[in-house]
Amino acid sequence: MKAMFDFSPAANADKATLYDDLLSAADALTAGEPDAVANMANVAALIWQFLPDLNWAGFYRMAEDELVLGPFQGKTACIRIPLGKGVCGAAAASGETQLVEDVHAFPGHIACDAASASEVVVPVIIEGRVVAVLDLDSPLPARFDRTDQEGLETLVERIAARLA
Ligand code: SME
Repeated sequence: MKAMFDFSPAANADKATLYDDLLSAADALTAGEPDAVANMANVAALIWQFLPDLNWAGFYRMAEDELVLGPFQGKTACIRIPLGKGVCGAAAASGETQLVEDVHAFPGHIACDAASASEVVVPVIIEGRVVAVLDLDSPLPARFDRTDQEGLETLVERIAARLA
């Protein structure tokens, strides 16, 4: 029997299909749920389950003038990131997605997990304000491309209101 909250990626799906299915699952799972922490937790779990070659996936929330660790999957991470610092801080300060093929070449990159080689950070924006960022790390160099960026931006845009 399929469990109520069992959302699994299709076997051998291509990247675009994985993102379509991830979007549907995240939309279904967060619909009607007003608790932002519960929704961030489930979305982090879905991303972890659907996307291969990740060593970290989760959220930092904007609290006053810095980012504070939110729900995630992966190893324990730095708790507070000042605006403008690291990849997450750059995404939060600029309101723009940061797609980083080689984290070691990114000025000010914050190494929470030494295994991380590439990273993508997407700001969660509500009414023009950055309320959180979604951060994905991979142990593979250049793991993330434009398809990942677009898939994640679409996902975050669709459910932004449920994440804050
Ligand atoms: N590498 C990030 C810090 C967060 S961890 O990767 C989870 C950064 O430079 O902002």
